[in-house]
Amino acid sequence: MQASAQGLIVGYDEAGSGTPLLLLHGFPLNRRMWQPQLAALAGLAHCIAPDVRGFGDSDIAPPFTIDQFADDAISLLDAVGVTEPAVVCGLSMGGYIAFAIWRRHRDRVRALILADTRATADTEEAKVKRREVIETVRARGSGAIAESQARAMLSARTLERCPEALAEVQAMITSQRPEAIAGANEAMLARPDSTLTLATIAVPTLILVGEHDAITPPAISEEMQRAIPNSRLERLSGAGHLSSFERPAAFNGAVAELLETVS
Ligand code: MLT
Repeated sequence: MQASAQGLIVGYDEAGSGTPLLLLHGFPLNRRMWQPQLAALAGLAHCIAPDVRGFGDSDIAPPFTIDQFADDAISLLDAVGVTEPAVVCGLSMGGYIAFAIWRRHRDRVRALILADTRATADTEEAKVKRREVIETVRARGSGAIAESQARAMLSARTLERCPEALAEVQAMITSQRPEAIAGANEAMLARPDSTLTLATIAVPTLILVGEHDAITPPAISEEMQRAIPNSRLERLSGAGHLSSFERPAAFNGAVAELLETVS
């Protein structure tokens, strides 16, 4: 589906009814990564999964900033008629967007789910790597980074037991526009440090992390959990960075528990 949100065409999936659950995807993926959640949680919540500006079926247009991505998500909620506060769930880059939604639109947030993400800004080393990715996709297309990015996201267990997961994630990355990948990298490079935001979070917060997440290791989630007042942390055994996709039943079970307490 597509909707016009403040003039931007946004691709999104919508399923179920009840408490709104906004699902914000990671980088460099699109809303399709949330299919296991839409399938399982539509009976419990009104799931809305947008494509971030430039990705999937969303139009590509500057500005590429995390604040703009947050505003886009809220404009989509407006466009589909969701005015009550939503449970906002973001994985990795989606988590950076969730922090921005909390800072800019907190009246729209009923609870937060922060999956495989971090509050800190990029280190200088991370910024150098992002610039390399931008140059690579501009020169050689999205497929040039697909296999290495997909492998980094999945645990050794997933790669061994579920080889089709690698192909699926790789295909999702290859299908993204190079300029969307470049734009999201620019946005993440420039994102602010959200560490001081953590203590301000005044809604129930569920933190989820794959026990083998090599990109945002569990220690980072433990630190976030200590800093967010009303928060709970769950480690998903066997999962890597893409925990919602690798261990959907465990991920969905934790989300369902949170939905029950805040609905
Ligand atoms: C993601 O999965 O969204 C990325 O790991 C985020 C990032 O590159 O910082």
